[in-house]
Amino acid sequence: MIALGADHGGFELKEAIKKHLDETGVEYKDFGTYSTDSIDYAKIAYKACKAVTDGECEKAVLCCGTGIGISMAANKVKGIRAACCSDYFSAKYTRLHNDANALCLGGRVVGAGLAVELVDVFLNTEFEGGRHQRRVDQISAIENGEAL
Ligand code: RB5
Repeated sequence: MIALGADHGGFELKEAIKKHLDETGVEYKDFGTYSTDSIDYAKIAYKACKAVTDGECEKAVLCCGTGIGISMAANKVKGIRAACCSDYFSAKYTRLHNDANALCLGGRVVGAGLAVELVDVFLNTEFEGGRHQRRVDQISAIENGEAL
């Protein structure tokens, strides 16, 4: 189950991603927004990311105008590693190397065609582990207030 979320700036891209996930048989839960009316991205990020950290969803795909604000909010949720991506390489390697569990996209940055490619590679790429696990553990240590 994938958690989806967007503000008004990412609403249309989220809808395009939903259509793609429907076509490819990927289950999702839509945490809004449900129209182009203005809404604050942090509230959406919080709801969708809590579904990930609570175990209801495996990963989140979040959209705002740039992808940046919603990624900043997402990364404040303990246990979330959100990556704002607009290229294929980054969407792939943030899974391989960072074990990212939230992909953030800019509805005013990427078109729907590229976005669904980014979503597919993000959802279908496994974390490599190994030396990268140590680095991800260090991110968690910072999150827990530990000195490195
Ligand atoms: C909303 O206008 C816009 O600021 C928001 O979608 C996002 O781009 C923020 O980072």
